[in-house]
Amino acid sequence: MDRSTNQQYLAEDMQRLDEMLARVTKSDETLSRYLTSGGDMQLLNLACGACNEAGTLANFFGRFNKKSADNRKLKFVGLDIRAREIADAAARFRGNLNAEFEFLRGDATKLHDHQQLPSEFDVVFVRHQNLWNGKSDWEKIYHKALEKLSPNGRLIITSYFDREHQQALEVIKEQGGELVVTEANEMSRELPTPGKFVDRHVAILKRQSSL
Ligand SMILES: C[S@@+](CC[C@H](N)C(=O)[O-])C[C@H]1O[C@@H](n2cnc3c(N)ncnc32)[C@H](O)[C@@H]1O
Repeated sequence: MDRSTNQQYLAEDMQRLDEMLARVTKSDETLSRYLTSGGDMQLLNLACGACNEAGTLANFFGRFNKKSADNRKLKFVGLDIRAREIADAAARFRGNLNAEFEFLRGDATKLHDHQQLPSEFDVVFVRHQNLWNGKSDWEKIYHKALEKLSPNGRLIITSYFDREHQQALEVIKEQGGELVVTEANEMSRELPTPGKFVDRHVAILKRQSSL
């Protein structure tokens, strides 16, 4: 695929991700209330790779402030185990008045080793986990993700495959998560691998027994 076609696909995928987030967050009263409250926000994007989604997520979560454009400060931390992808992300997303970006190379199964991370995040986002590639690692990653949530914080995941999405929800439940809402995105882009679609599903989860 040539570069300009790739860029075009990416732009369309990001537009769909933004629209999907707008739809699904409306089904979560606590999150919607928090988003429109205008406070600062901390977002952790785990296993973010080159983090194509960073700008879209920062715009989405940063734009809810109704008071003034520069009122909400978003701290965005992206983390992935692959150094080259993290370096790419750091070169592309440098932050602005409303968003501070930080990209770390690290193992999400060992989040506790990253002492410089804030103690809690309002949103932990995991886009396109690859559960098939090592279920026990993802059990640990989801466990750490839930541990990092603020009391009313949300874990938001998206998945490429129907079955993998259901498996991820099961794993998160076993690790102490509770499903708030899950939605299939019928508009998602089909990829060459059978059954694989960009952001085919999205789900919002919370820690069991939180609001
Ligand atoms: C399918 S890719 C998704 C990347 C990106 N979120 C996206 O949607 O394009 C899965 C990512 O998980 C990362 N990953 C796998 N195990 C990890 C771990 N233990 N810690 C951090 N990242 C990990 C991989 O390096 C890869 O970038």
